[in-house]
Amino acid sequence: MINLSSELQIDQFRPSDMAQVVELEQLCFKDPYPWWLLSELAHRNPETFVIAKVNDRIVGYAIIDHWEEHYHLVSIAVHPGNRRT
Ligand SMILES: CC(C)(COP(=O)(O)OP(=O)(O)OC[C@H]1O[C@@H](n2cnc3c(N)ncnc32)[C@H](O)[C@@H]1OP(=O)(O)O)[C@@H](O)C(=O)NCCC(=O)NCCS
Repeated sequence: MINLSSELQIDQFRPSDMAQVVELEQLCFKDPYPWWLLSELAHRNPETFVIAKVNDRIVGYAIIDHWEEHYHLVSIAVHPGNRRT
């Protein structure tokens, strides 16, 4: 866990975060990833699927997938109300 300020906390994704991440995904993308793809990415990347929380509410996430020869930022999203912060 990384505390960037008194409010913002970065954590590794846990299965219990899925409902909020799906909600965020649907809010941020016209063509959101389905939960099962997010779940597969989480399974493949336990250390590099990270979420950002403010006051215990998920406001962002990033998924870095391990490809054969490099790491790839597959998706990144920040809640519209928390952008540019
Ligand atoms: C992309 C996103 C995560 C940025 O969040 P944010 O909190 O505003 O990010 P920051 O404050 O760190 O950076 C804002 C900068 O990113 C730029 N930016 C926003 N979306 C961008 C994109 N898709 N590609 C490149 N740059 C982008 C903004 O123009 C701004 O640049 P500026 O400071 O030069 O004006 C957010 O806009 C978002 O969730 N968008 C919807 C999901 C999305 O399109 N994700 C990216 C593709 S996976």
